Amino acid sequence: MSATDEVSRIGVIGCGLMGSGIAEVSARAGLDVVVVEADQAAVDAGRARIEASLAQGVRRGKLSEDARDETLGRIRTTWEPDALGDRQIVVEAVPEVEALKLQVFDTLDKVVADEGAVLASNTSSIPIMKLAMATGRPEQVIGIHFFNPVPVLPLVELVPSLLTAPAVVDRAASYASGTLAKHVIRSQDRAGFVVNSLLIPYLLSSIRMLESGFATAEDIDIGMVQGCAHPMGPLALSDLIGLDTVTAVAESMYEEFKEPLYAPPPMLLRMVDAGLLGRKSGRGFHRYR
Ligand code: CAA
Repeated sequence: MSATDEVSRIGVIGCGLMGSGIAEVSARAGLDVVVVEADQAAVDAGRARIEASLAQGVRRGKLSEDARDETLGRIRTTWEPDALGDRQIVVEAVPEVEALKLQVFDTLDKVVADEGAVLASNTSSIPIMKLAMATGRPEQVIGIHFFNPVPVLPLVELVPSLLTAPAVVDRAASYASGTLAKHVIRSQDRAGFVVNSLLIPYLLSSIRMLESGFATAEDIDIGMVQGCAHPMGPLALSDLIGLDTVTAVAESMYEEFKEPLYAPPPMLLRMVDAGLLGRKSGRGFHRYR
């Protein structure tokens, strides 16, 4: 692929909270999208997630029923990674587990035929260089980090590694800001990038506050919503992100900087051990069912 080739074919690996959103906004922008999940059950769940979000978009008057159907028609879901062979950009959005992401990049290196393709990760915190070195073409690897809910939040962080080729940075920027009309900010390749470096210590502080009995979960959240005009409080936001993801991001950042403020508090670790992962499991700091 050369810098002047137009991007029309995109792939997404992982169709959870983030992957489904990335697939949705890409298809809504007119791109042909292939989504790869681990098995048929995950493929079905991922497609259902995209359909539910599009249905909500229709209810909110953000798109017509025809546009919803056209969007769905542009998304092919499969469990076969070979389907990514002809993609010009692939965005990896599997869970925030380094070993898993390394495996995905090894697979991408094998299946994506285009030697100029952009191999992107939606990681929140794992250094891009680590993922790039799992491939034989690190110059094609870059971080394109979206925010949850992807159809609603306008930001994307663009994170080139020391080895990312300038043409790959340009291609990724054009996809995020041109095609998807997202607002792009750039970050150096440091665990947590810009947003999570600020957000994660705040979320962890709210969990430590709850853990020490300083205030109730309700009052901590109300404090930040009513006192600082945040759209949601830090504990509700942790539940939205997923407590497993908050933990994984904090652990990557702690590993990188060894700063105590990034260390996940025991209460968070025990909740993850217990399967209390927030909205997606029905219970976190608040209950959803
Ligand atoms: N498609 C398109 N638009 C949609 C939509 C969909 N599926 N669902 C909702 N919307 C639109 C609504 O129409 C509405 O638009 P208008 O303002 O133009 O009317 C807007 O999105 C807000 O929707 P709601 O009224 O349903 O919801 P809300 O006002 O209660 O807000 C929220 C919900 C968007 C989640 C809001 O609470 C919020 O922004 N919270 C903070 C989320 C946040 O901080 N996310 C970042 C997490 S960190 C992360 O993701 C990265 C990481 O690495 C961990």
